[in-house]
Amino acid sequence: VSPAAPIITIDGPSASGKTSVARLVAQRLGIPYISSGLLYRAVALMCLLENVTAEEIEHRLGKYRLELHPTPEANRVLLNGKDVTESLHNLEVDAVVSAVAKRPGVRAYVNAVLRELPGPFVIDGRDMGSTVFPEAKYKFYLTASPEVRASRRVPERDAAYETVLAEILRRDQADATQSAPAKDALLLDTSHLDLDGVVQAVLGHLTERAGP
Ligand code: DC
Repeated sequence: VSPAAPIITIDGPSASGKTSVARLVAQRLGIPYISSGLLYRAVALMCLLENVTAEEIEHRLGKYRLELHPTPEANRVLLNGKDVTESLHNLEVDAVVSAVAKRPGVRAYVNAVLRELPGPFVIDGRDMGSTVFPEAKYKFYLTASPEVRASRRVPERDAAYETVLAEILRRDQADATQSAPAKDALLLDTSHLDLDGVVQAVLGHLTERAGP
């Protein structure tokens, strides 16, 4: 990989494995991993703090200074200087985050925070390669059938396969507009690969592209 602070984007639908892949690729390259979803989760937390809807929070974003700090262990998210990282993965946040991520004002706000981050890094999300970092040097888009994604997620959720599959199909539809692959992204169908196989495929492609 070129030393010129490259940005590597890894997008894909929910449960496509992009987070695990992005984290491992970043680790192998010795550069930070960034989760763009965490910032949408932080805006969802603002809704809960203010007790307002996703639509209403759009008009209150100016009250909040949002920062993301990648550390070797994890991303830390600060809201007006306070570390809120531990409050971003719970059912209340899960319940509002999709509605929040649909608001154009929220997307613009999150994207502005992301664009301030210094490279190099590996970042995962839905529209990192298509919208936020169109100039990124290396772009990947992970796909897998809904059935494969559901069976991967079942062990992480305390729910039946049918329930998980239905939720994945619902989210695919809800996220469709912001989830189209960038035209210049490498599409990787991971249906028949395990995590290590996908990581090797991404690293192999990076090595090939970076040249001797
Ligand atoms: O990756 P995650 O599950 O933490 O993402 C949380 C939510 O944010 C998810 O509903 C999709 C949305 N999201 C988005 O719309 N665009 C991104 N770049 C990242 C996440």
